Amino acid sequence: MLVTEKNNMTEEIEELVRRYGRERSSLLPILQSIQRKHKHIPDFAQQEVARLLDIHPVEVFSVISFYSFLNTKPKGRFIVRLCQTISCDLQGKAAVSKAIERELGITFGETTKDNKFTLEYANCVGMCDQGPAMIINERVYFKLTPEKAVQILNELK
Ligand code: FES
Repeated sequence: MLVTEKNNMTEEIEELVRRYGRERSSLLPILQSIQRKHKHIPDFAQQEVARLLDIHPVEVFSVISFYSFLNTKPKGRFIVRLCQTISCDLQGKAAVSKAIERELGITFGETTKDNKFTLEYANCVGMCDQGPAMIINERVYFKLTPEKAVQILNELK
């Protein structure tokens, strides 16, 4: 089973290398393709990309770490990004963040076991005068209270 998965992943990456080429500049489009298909870039895929492009695995990992749209672990269907910048902080972000963590049973940086929610902090999302604010996938929510945040999560559950 594991061997089959490895072979499938290797074949898939070989195909991407054929399509994008072996140059260093191919690294990002290859990683984006893997991310799109698997919703993250597993360890084995990172090693295979490094091997096939003949670069060090640390280089692959550092590119993944640099771009927020590339992940080494699968994320939830709903990515909750709560603004942690100063205006939202002063308007009650801490209470909202505690309520969200309590409701989902995870802390920021984690994903629920059912892969439904991932919690992340974001920097200013452009709603500074209406904070605390958060974005869930593409949608912005503002003037949050702990109760309002929990209600929003419950509507998504
Ligand atoms: S500081 Fe939170 S939206 Fe700008």
